[in-house]
Parts: sequence; C-alpha cells; structure tokens
Amino acid sequence: MTQDAGIWKAGRSGAKGRNTPKGRQYTDEALDQVQLLLGDSPRRRDLLIEFLHLIQDAHGHLSAAHLAALAHELRMSQAEVYEVASFYAHFDVVKEGEAPPPALTIRVCDSLSCEMAGAEQLRAALSDGLDPSQVRVLRAPCMGRCDTAPVLEIGHNHIDHATPEKVRQAIAGGDTHAHIPPYQTLADYRTEGGYDTLARLIAADDWDAVEATVLASGLRGLGGAGFPSGRKWGFVRSYPGPRLMAVNGDEGEPGTFKDRYYLERTPHLMFEGMLIAAHAVQADRVYIYMRDEYPAVLEILRREIAALEAAGLTPPGFIVLRRGAGAYICGEESAMIESIEGKRGIPRHRPPFVAEVGLFGRPTLVHNVETLHWVARVMREGPEVLSGVEKNGRKGLRSYSVSGRVANPGVHLLPAGSTIADVIAAAGGMAPGHVFKAYQPGGPSSGLLPASLNDVPLDFDTLQDHGTFIGSAAVVVLSDQDSAKAAALNMLRFFEDESCGQCTPCRVGCEKAVKLMQADWWDAGLLNDLCDAMADASICGLGQAAPNPIRLTLQHFGDEVSG
Ligand SMILES: Cc1cc2nc3c(=O)[nH]c(=O)nc-3n(C[C@H](O)[C@H](O)[C@H](O)COP(=O)(O)O)c2cc1C
Ligand code: SF4
Ligand code: FES
Repeated sequence: MTQDAGIWKAGRSGAKGRNTPKGRQYTDEALDQVQLLLGDSPRRRDLLIEFLHLIQDAHGHLSAAHLAALAHELRMSQAEVYEVASFYAHFDVVKEGEAPPPALTIRVCDSLSCEMAGAEQLRAALSDGLDPSQVRVLRAPCMGRCDTAPVLEIGHNHIDHATPEKVRQAIAGGDTHAHIPPYQTLADYRTEGGYDTLARLIAADDWDAVEATVLASGLRGLGGAGFPSGRKWGFVRSYPGPRLMAVNGDEGEPGTFKDRYYLERTPHLMFEGMLIAAHAVQADRVYIYMRDEYPAVLEILRREIAALEAAGLTPPGFIVLRRGAGAYICGEESAMIESIEGKRGIPRHRPPFVAEVGLFGRPTLVHNVETLHWVARVMREGPEVLSGVEKNGRKGLRSYSVSGRVANPGVHLLPAGSTIADVIAAAGGMAPGHVFKAYQPGGPSSGLLPASLNDVPLDFDTLQDHGTFIGSAAVVVLSDQDSAKAAALNMLRFFEDESCGQCTPCRVGCEKAVKLMQADWWDAGLLNDLCDAMADASICGLGQAAPNPIRLTLQHFGDEVSG
C-alpha cells in the first residue's frame, strides 16, 4: 500500500508524523484500475455516477479500495463518494473484509403487476434452485415491462413471462446481455421526412409561434404533473441564459412503460421533439437521464446520438446521455438534476423552481420522454393531432400503460377522456376467468379505485374529486381474484423502499404505514393520522402521494381491512 509523498501530522501535538492522510487508503492496484477505466475522461465531479458505473460494470462491485482510489482521482472526500455510491440500488458497495457479490445477479420485479402474476413464487423457486455462490436473486421494483409480467433481469437480459426454466436456459446459454429490439433508425426516420420539421422551424426562427402551436395543441407534461408544455418554455425563456435542458427518462412509477414503448420503436420522434424544445428555449446542451433498468434503450440512445452527430444534425457533445442507477426518486425533476450533477437523488426545496435554477444552477427545461414525442408530432402534423380529439368533454390523447388482469396488456393510445371501461375494452377485455374489481389509475401514487367508478374520464384534473390523479397513466386492473389490501401494501412497500429519507414524515411514515398495514385489520384512526402528517409535511410528491393507496383502500375496500 502506498500513498503520495507527504507527511500528515497525527493529533494536536504533531509530535509524530504519519505518511498517509487519515482514513481509508487506496492501493496502487486499485488506483491503476480506476485510472485505466476513466481513461482520459475529465476528472469532473458531475461524472461521479458514470465513473461508479464503469467500476461496477468492470468488477461487479465497488470495493472500498476502488472508492478510495476514485475519491483520490476526483479530488473528492471519500465520504462524498461513499454516500453517492451507497444511495443507488445498482451499486454494490463492498467494505473491507466483506465478500463481493456472485458474478451473476437476477433481479425479480416485485411491483404490483408482477406480484399479481406470481413474482413471489418465482423468486422463491429461483432462490431454492440456484447456487448462491454463483448467482444471487434480489427483489427489485418495476422494470417497465408490466405487460409481460412476471419479469426479471439476468445481468442485463430481461426475461418476460419469466419462469425458472427460462432462467436456467438463459444461464446455460450465457444470455445475460440486453436484447436490442428492431427500431426506426435515423436513416429510416429521415426517409419519411424526419427532421424536416426541425429544419423548417430553424429556418423560420419564430419560436414564439412554435410555443403558441404547442399551447394550442393542449399538450401537457406526460411525466405525471400535467403542466402545460408551452407555458413551461415561456418560463424558462424568461430567465437569462445560458440555459440547459434535461430529458426525464426515469420512468420509475410502477406500471408505467410508455416511454420505453416509444423509445424502443420510434426514438427519433423524441429526439426531434427534444431538439425543437431545446431551440425554443435556446438551451446550450441537453442531458438525457435514462434509467438503468432500460439497457436496450440506453444502447439505442447511444447509437442514435452518434448517428445524429455523424449526420451533422447536432454538434458533438450537445446531447449528453446520463445513466441512472436504480432510484425511483430520481424521476422527480429536482432529484434527477442532483443525480445528473453526480450527487444523491435528493429532491430540492422549491422555490426556486428548476425553470429558474436547475442543472448546474442554470435555468433548465425538463421534459418527460413522451411529452417530447408529442412535441414532434404536434409540430409536424399540427396542433389538431391532439386538440382535434374529443371525448367525454376532454381533449387530446393519452398513452395508457395497461397491465394486470386484462386480455391484452400493453400501451394503448386512446382519447384522453377514456374511462376505465374504455381502457379495458381497448385491452381486449378482462383476462379469461377474471371479473373486474378495482384499478390503479396512475401508478401507486394514485392508489386504487373500485370497479363501480367506471364512468370517470381518466385524464388530468378529472380524478381530484375522487382523491386521486391520472399521473403517468399507469393503469393496473385488479380482478375478483386479487386483494385490494395486498395491492395497497405492495404500493406502500415500494414507497418505503424508494423514499430518499430526507424528510421524517415520508421516511418514518412509509415504514410505520407498512407495519400497520400488515396487521389483520387496519387501525384506521392511526393510519389516517399518519396519512395527514405525510401528505402535509413531506417535501416532495413521493411522500405527499404515498397516503393515497391507504386512504382509497379504507374508503372503497373497507370490508377487506376493517374488522
Ligand atoms: C416522486 C416523483 C417521481 C417522478 N417520476 C417521474 C418519472 O419517472 N418520469 C418523468 O418524466 N417524470 C416524473 N416525475 C415528474 C417530474 O418531476 C416532472 O414533472 C416531469 O419530468 C416534467 O416533464 P413534463 O412536463 O414533460 O411531464 C416524478 C415526480 C415525482 C414527484
Ligand atoms: S417526501 Fe420522501 S422522497 Fe420526497 S424528499 Fe421527502 S423523504 Fe425524500
Ligand atoms: S415490470 Fe413488474 S410491475 Fe412493472
């Protein structure tokens, strides 16, 4: 073990010198390995998570010596590097004396649609049948493939409709890498007029008109908050530059898979919409934050960013791809920005909003992947592509991610005024042998509604009176064979796992709620008090919305939870 030359004084007396700094030391071997992996990348702090990925990918874990060497290389404190590494589920921090994880990891999704499809039994069967020194089996949250539940990931290979037999075959065949689906490449997209709209808008240079068209379409943020997209551009532009843009590809809300659906088919609609929006706010650079659970999408984005640069459609380095590391909270826009800056994904206090003080302190336009897909379509096809669709008094289209007990789960593009009856009909009706009982309208944050509420349009602003919201339109359909109580517990377990821990009402509230919800009968008084505290005093949407599954289950499925 060696260290740079220099004498560090020990203690106040300074009588005896040490030839190392206080704390854990790196080894020459670890430093060599880290330097090799980092190559000539700039030693910037915002690249910390990217560097942690390089080490994790190469060595299968992050050893104490590697973390110490990385801290040295980045001139950061070891505590800072450690706190970031240990925040994210996809990093395996291994302390001195601890055994590293086995070479292969299987993550079994345990979110609602997969649980309903038998994920727990699957995990038990795998844990029993595999050699733990070779393979470890972990539970993991939604992988955005709920339409093919139960799902698991071996290495980076996702297995749909997973069975122990499929797992054995994948292991035997060494099939542990992401499978890239066929998709529309840049060349294909351009043959059908792709990027002509962008060229036309750049030539016209009338970005007020573009903003007005987007506003006229009625397009609202499809990450869940539903903020009118054109209006957001106006806010960002009102602050002095330089400005930045960030694309939110975290898609962590269980039950949501629409962003993956579009990116694995027509990624350039998102890219073109992104470049239109970036021009509209005069962004100097665009960061795409893509969740680590989507390795195929990450590869598609890498390839197509390179293709865009090679075609001269974007200057090199204008689009920066950043890889998440397994933390749902990084979908919250200010937490995503912290993560892009190489930190823990801890939501910021607001104001200031990210439109004013966002990435690296700059005014930042943040958009969800699907929102940008629609920006491209609106500017190419006209605002009527959305505003011209009307149903039940609502305008626009909604990409419902539908899973659970329906015959044809998947993304169903329907009028925004669709009811759950319409959504189930579009998904081929109920699965054979299942009778409709309940539904989650928009991810666990939206809780559960009863089948009797089947005439409400599932759109922004239509569900408030029912104590919920549409969010990312992640619809999960439950049947007479499912328990509302078990579903609500699944949702709260997810929030307990994913709370960033910054504020007490959320961190402790989720944990206490899970304990109370495991009882045979729920203590409604105590749970309601807890819900009030969480909703009123949590900093961000996670803790504020986490009570929804509890309240709605008490309200609509009291017979399952009250003695
Ligand atoms: C807990 C939490 C998780 C979120 N997760 C996502 C996400 O995974 N993807 C996303 O686009 N927006 C997510 N959002 C919403 C973002 O904060 C933000 O509103 C959105 O990215 C803005 O883009 P849009 O206007 O195009 O929807 C989340 C919000 C909260 C409170
Ligand atoms: S509400 Fe929960 S997730 Fe949000 S900042 Fe507080 S602890 Fe973190
Ligand atoms: S992939 Fe399992 S619930 Fe989404």
